[in-house]
Amino acid sequence: MPGRRKIIIDTDPGQDDAVAILLALASPELEVLGITAVCGNVPLALTERNARRICELAGRPETLVFAGATRPLLRELVTAEQVHGKTGLNGPELPEPSMRLQDAHAVDFIIETLMTEERASVTLCALGPLTNLALALVREPRIASRIQEIVLMGGGFFEGGNVTPTAEFNIYVDPHAADIVLKSGAPIVMLPLDVTHKALTTAARTRAFRGLGTRVGVAVAEMLEFFERFDEQKYGTDGGPLHDPCVIAWLLAPQLFRGRCCNVEVETTSELTMGMTVADWWGVTSRPKNATYIRDVDHDGFFRLLVERIGRLKSPVPA
Ligand code: BDR
Ligand code: CA
Repeated sequence: MPGRRKIIIDTDPGQDDAVAILLALASPELEVLGITAVCGNVPLALTERNARRICELAGRPETLVFAGATRPLLRELVTAEQVHGKTGLNGPELPEPSMRLQDAHAVDFIIETLMTEERASVTLCALGPLTNLALALVREPRIASRIQEIVLMGGGFFEGGNVTPTAEFNIYVDPHAADIVLKSGAPIVMLPLDVTHKALTTAARTRAFRGLGTRVGVAVAEMLEFFERFDEQKYGTDGGPLHDPCVIAWLLAPQLFRGRCCNVEVETTSELTMGMTVADWWGVTSRPKNATYIRDVDHDGFFRLLVERIGRLKSPVPA
């Protein structure tokens, strides 16, 4: 289809990553050039496998999946099995993937793609720690000016953090990588906790996915039911924040979101506030505006879009 927006999804699935991948694969406006896995929610051996399981669930085994970084740039890997379960994708029964993992390293794929595709025609969608993106930017700095946009789920300012009082998981896991990305000069859109905490997987919304009656719809409902239990207990809400699909929804329907361009920097030295994203929302400094920082979403519109698109995926039930 002409005019499709080309994207690479960098991800650490993760149930919410999985729903984001499904949303992208279900959307004809997007051309998924590849999926690059990074360590994060669980170690890389599981995230790359989960990425392939999701492609097969979507009925898209031809999707290119690459494995990337096995650890953050400088710090030890911190994972989140307490949220996502031992496999990272607890909830539905999903078979072992049979599609193959690509031989190339994720970072090489990102560089190669950006250097060969037309300038400013490829968007990087980052759903996990930013290690792969930072490595690509360091190895081949010329890619910064060739990226159409980096749209990332990460950070939080008004909402505070979710892994420490001040830090959001993706940024906390690799703050040094986030620092490199935010200073890269590439156009950046950030979907932080300030917006994702407004997109809750309420019981009614989960029922809507199950009610699709498709294998994918039921699997999404099962993923969300597992994933939301941790945050429901923590925040006392009906449902938990559905973080990563906000990135893909922003590409499909930016009118659902509100934000502004401002300076965002990452704390990389203080152990107390490590990984905190400091957003100069009110423009009280003269620091350069380097990101569009999204703070609000039409959450009903977001879930309507999501249910409608997930409903398009009608993969056959395996024998
Ligand atoms: C982010 O951390 C992960 O656990 C989720 O997949 C999401 O990308 C939210 O803080
Ligand atoms: Ca994620």
